[in-house]
Amino acid sequence: MSVALVTGAAGGLGSAIAARLAEDHAVLLTDVDAERLADVTAQLATDGARLAHTVCDVSEHASVRAAFETAEAQLGEVSLLANVAGVGKFVPFGELTARQWDQTFAVNTRGTFLTCQELCRRRAGRPGAIVNIASIGARLGMDVLADYGPSKAAVIELTHVVSRVGAPTGLRANAVMPGLIWTDMWQKTSEWLLENDPAHAGSSAEQIFMGFVESLVPMGRPQTTEDIADMVAFLLSDRAGNVTGQTISVDGGVVLT
Ligand SMILES: NC(=O)c1ccc[n+]([C@@H]2O[C@H](COP(=O)([O-])OP(=O)(O)OC[C@H]3O[C@@H](n4cnc5c(N)ncnc54)[C@H](O)[C@@H]3O)[C@@H](O)[C@H]2O)c1
Repeated sequence: MSVALVTGAAGGLGSAIAARLAEDHAVLLTDVDAERLADVTAQLATDGARLAHTVCDVSEHASVRAAFETAEAQLGEVSLLANVAGVGKFVPFGELTARQWDQTFAVNTRGTFLTCQELCRRRAGRPGAIVNIASIGARLGMDVLADYGPSKAAVIELTHVVSRVGAPTGLRANAVMPGLIWTDMWQKTSEWLLENDPAHAGSSAEQIFMGFVESLVPMGRPQTTEDIADMVAFLLSDRAGNVTGQTISVDGGVVLT
């Protein structure tokens, strides 16, 4: 049984990915939110599931190293990595501060770099697989995502680099671009729009979200966490043994890759 490390595993998408991976692998769930992480791990604990959890702030190198060591001590050596931890909120371009830019990049980009590098070092010369969660926001040029979009575009290029580094020894790296999923991230975004954009007055947060789905998604429906988890599980499996350096959009047709 392989050991998978999932970052952001207390979140909407991370918990679904951890649940899907736990069907086939031992899983270390990690997140910066200790309370929700413990709850999610307890919910996923079923007969036969090999799970452990540890708090990890992906933006801190020591914290990332410690998470890999916890996995090794409790489950075995990590060979699979799903980078799901991320932050993002709408801020108009003219109001974006350098501080928010740095905070977004610290989690989304530096965090992904640190975990990828740690896995590559530990797997030196041996196979493994990585999936980095990017976003359609990397390709839309949206005014309100001037930090988030570039931070995810950098994740895609980092994935290209890791795929080249790992290819000779069978270590694969791919990125997934999810579309629009109703998780905490979109709930907070919709609530922010409700408070700050008079165009949305009188709507509910969920109606605002569905408005974005209708205007952006050709297939006209939001994505589910399971849609993304299935793709991540496939890319981490041997069935995708010849796939590396790719970015797959799971978004109902928003971005044509
Ligand atoms: N929801 C969407 O529509 C959508 C679309 C495209 C991409 N994504 C990406 O999917 C990923 C998961 O997002 P989600 O929708 O589940 O949101 P979420 O807010 O539910 O989950 C994000 C998780 O990341 C964790 N996190 C934040 N900072 C961290 C840090 N420094 N170290 C470790 N963990 C940290 C949070 O505690 C949270 O549990 C993110 O990378 C996000 O950018 C989401």
